[in-house]
Parts: sequence; C-alpha cells; structure tokens
Amino acid sequence: MNIFDEIKDLAKQKNAVIMAHNYQNPEIQDIADYTGDSLELARIASQTKASIIVFCGVHFMAESASILSPDKKVLLPDLSAGCPMADMIDAEKVRVLKRKHPGARVVTYINSTAEVKTVSNVICTSSNARKIVDRIDSNEIIFVPDKNLGSYVQRFTSKKIILSDGFCPTHEKFTVEMLREVKASHPDAYVIVHPECRPEVIELADAALSTGEMVKFAASTDKKRIIVGTESALIHKLKKVNGNIEFIPAGDSFICPNMKKIDLSKLLQSLREELYEVKVDDETAALAKIPLDRMLELSY
Ligand code: 13P
Ligand code: SF4
Repeated sequence: MNIFDEIKDLAKQKNAVIMAHNYQNPEIQDIADYTGDSLELARIASQTKASIIVFCGVHFMAESASILSPDKKVLLPDLSAGCPMADMIDAEKVRVLKRKHPGARVVTYINSTAEVKTVSNVICTSSNARKIVDRIDSNEIIFVPDKNLGSYVQRFTSKKIILSDGFCPTHEKFTVEMLREVKASHPDAYVIVHPECRPEVIELADAALSTGEMVKFAASTDKKRIIVGTESALIHKLKKVNGNIEFIPAGDSFICPNMKKIDLSKLLQSLREELYEVKVDDETAALAKIPLDRMLELSY
C-alpha cells in the first residue's frame, strides 16, 4: 500500500479527520479532508464528529481546535511547528495595555497562545477582523499581536485601535520594493496580498485578503493574471479552484518554515502513534474558549 492510502485507511479506522491550513505542503493539502484559512478550520474543528483531529498547521491552530472541541484528541504531527508571531505577546503584556487603557476591549488575533486568549475579550482572524472590531461594544480596541493586521483594520473604522508590536516574519520580509519589481514584470496582473503584509505593501496592492478570501476570489474572478502576496503554497490551492488564471508568486522566498514542517511520513506517524497531542489545562481552556466562541458568534 502506498503512503497516501495508508494514511487514508488509518484515518478511517481511527475516525480521524485531517485538517490542513492553506499554507501546507501540496501533498498535505491533497490528502486532507478539509483545507482552509484559520477561521474556516476553527469552525470545522468546533463542529466535527470525528474522534481525532490531525491538525496540519502550526501550534496555535491545533491548540484552538482543542479548546473549541475539548472532547476530541487533537494531534499536531510536528510539535515544533510554531508561529513566531504568536510568541511576540504574552498575557502580562496584555495586562499592562489593559491597565493603560482601562476602557478598551481586547481583540486578539487567533495567532496567539491560549494564555493570551484567556485575557482577551474576543478573538479574530484575518478574514473577520474588520467585522469583529465593528461589532465589539467599545470604541477603543487593544489589538494584539499583529501590528500590520491591526493597522489594516484601522483604515476602515473610526474606533481607536491600540496596537502592539507583533508581526509575521514571513510576510514582513516582503517589501514594497519587491512588490514594485514583480508588478513591473507583470504590469497587467491584479495584485492580492495578505493583511499580515506591511502597510505600504497593502497600499500598493489591489486587495488585501485572508487566504480563504483569496480562494473565493480566485474561484469567481474573470482576472487572467494574479500576483499572490502571501505564502507560496496557497498557489497550489488557487490553481485547483481556477486553472484558467496565471498565479504569479510575489517572491521566491515567500515561505513560512513552520508551515513546511509537516510531510506525509510525519502525518502517518502521527496517526499511527497518536502523536503529538495538543492540550491545554482545563482552566486555561475554559477561559480561552470564551473569546473564541465570541468570535464564532460575531462572525456571521
Ligand atoms: P489565514 O489563513 O487565516 O488568512 O491566516 C494566515 C496565516 O498566516 C495563518 O498563520
Ligand atoms: Fe505565523 Fe506567519 Fe507562519 Fe502564519 S505565515 S504561521 S503568521 S509565521
């Protein structure tokens, strides 16, 4: 039996569902039961009937899945797959900001630890951040940890957004000079970038979209050529939804090294040996679930 069939067989035997973020290696995307952006995967994790969720993504995603589905076993095939942005803020830093701005509500990007979620009012992802900020009952928002997503949201609201200094190293590396260069080589191409990009990059793009929104856009647009300003593995999915478009990666090294850690052999081992379980203690999980549930309620 080949490794692909072995994984599928084992997943069926164990009533396991394989979920993969849109930045995963193509073969992982192809074997997954579900692929999606952070919000889509969080929703699926909260509703699945499977006994085991094998999360092919990074640690905070598996952790959020476990918090949203406390009765399921959540596995992350490589425990070292983290998100550097999530480690750029801790609960104490949030408490300091709260003391400084006592009337503000805390909107926390899902790219954060469970501990940070426990001191947050609501969680957001890149696809619902604007909605969440609009719908939360405060005109003053502490937005952590992504300064780029926070300043992107600020463009659309008169609410006061207090930023922290986190960022995604993968998106931060993509500069406006790099975008100018790729645009000069493809002057007729439409440019989509992720809101984790620098503000000046977003300014020069035609649209800033979450990975899930990019997929929806590609499925319905009549554009013929699109420059994609995000992690390059997304192009695998974009090509599947619309084979008529030429997708141009915005840079050669638009790669999140953590998202690339999972391969088919680690996925097989994870299913076989039920490794590595991601679980937070009950008290932290219960507190972190409140703002995550709030996000799901507010993102209708
Ligand atoms: P989305 O897939 O939600 O757009 O998030 C991108 C990302 O960087 C996840 O870590
Ligand atoms: Fe974190 Fe950036 Fe990788 Fe997303 S792409 S997991 S934000 S480092």
